[in-house]
Amino acid sequence: MAASKLFNFSAGPATLPARVLERASEAVRELRGSAHAPHAEGIGLSLLEISHRSADFTAILERATALCHEVLEIPSTHAVVFLQGGASQQFAMVPMNLARTDKAAAFIDTGVWSKKAIRESKLQQETLVAASSGDTGYDRIPAVPELEAAKTSYLHIHGTQWRELPQVADVPVVADLSSDIGCHPMDFSRLALGYAGAQKNLGPSGVTLVFIEREFLASLEAREQVPYFFRYATHVEKQSVYNTPNTFGVLVLQLVLEWLRDEGGLEAAGRRNREKAALLYDHLDASSLFVPHAQPGHRSLMNVRWSADGAPEAEREAITQRLLAEAKAAGLVNLKGHRSVGGFRASIYNAFPLEGVRALVEFLREFEARA
Ligand SMILES: Cc1ncc(COP(=O)(O)O)c(C=O)c1O
Repeated sequence: MAASKLFNFSAGPATLPARVLERASEAVRELRGSAHAPHAEGIGLSLLEISHRSADFTAILERATALCHEVLEIPSTHAVVFLQGGASQQFAMVPMNLARTDKAAAFIDTGVWSKKAIRESKLQQETLVAASSGDTGYDRIPAVPELEAAKTSYLHIHGTQWRELPQVADVPVVADLSSDIGCHPMDFSRLALGYAGAQKNLGPSGVTLVFIEREFLASLEAREQVPYFFRYATHVEKQSVYNTPNTFGVLVLQLVLEWLRDEGGLEAAGRRNREKAALLYDHLDASSLFVPHAQPGHRSLMNVRWSADGAPEAEREAITQRLLAEAKAAGLVNLKGHRSVGGFRASIYNAFPLEGVRALVEFLREFEARA
């Protein structure tokens, strides 16, 4: 591998397609005449300098919204908006909008993101942890227990990849899709509300995709104490321009979805992602030094976690540090596990190339042979 070629395994903001970076830089230099606004008015203006209410940005916003329906397969029954504040703001906004005085919100606790969302929910409403994989170190997706519709306002799920989105009779499902949206086809008609920070599979940080079923939105109890800014109805009604949105983020999201469409859409992305993930998991399963974290059948296609737990405990930390340093020197960067769990994590989102996974597997093989 050429030393100049870096493979970036960052969990987010993450690798973006080279074509998207080129087109985004072009639009930052000058929007007029670029592929995004061939007829743009104004001479020499950058995307960053135009009004969010201009015809040019309106066209970008409309295209981005249409691509969310077309490429991500968000049903037309659901309104799409682009907000700010990340997925973390949604942890607070969901209960602000969905809490009911006569029912509890149910959560499936799958780790750090669930915990943050549960904390916000508890400020607003009765909150129930219906299932958790905490007892086994969050290495699986727990089964969803039966939930009584008369007592449950909604079910909220997060994080670790769900093979299939859950369906519970008469209980609306809300999903944090930040780490896996767009990685393969998903049946979003099962969701009353979905959201994703863009910085993993959709674009840069600072823009959050939210979609909400229009009928569900209309059915929500009015909660007069909720500030207008934090009401979904406000942003849906004003079609993402109630206030100034992240105009750059929306353009990059549009470019990423165009790239995804041109690469064959979600079916093809799913095939590529399964191939990449299998290559890495197969290697880790066969290794005697490395131990993958998630149980087979519960593994994310996007975020692969593992440790050096095959080594004697006293040596693990030194091996981990040596591996990270050597990987970096070999151009394999950002493999350090999340600060709360340690070990290694390779995020291999849609735009991460197969050749980078091959390079990592080859590196791990050589490293283990020397260890
Ligand atoms: C599944 C999931 N939810 C939420 C977050 C937090 O997102 P944000 O930083 O956009 O608030 C992350 C970030 O890594 C994530 O992976």
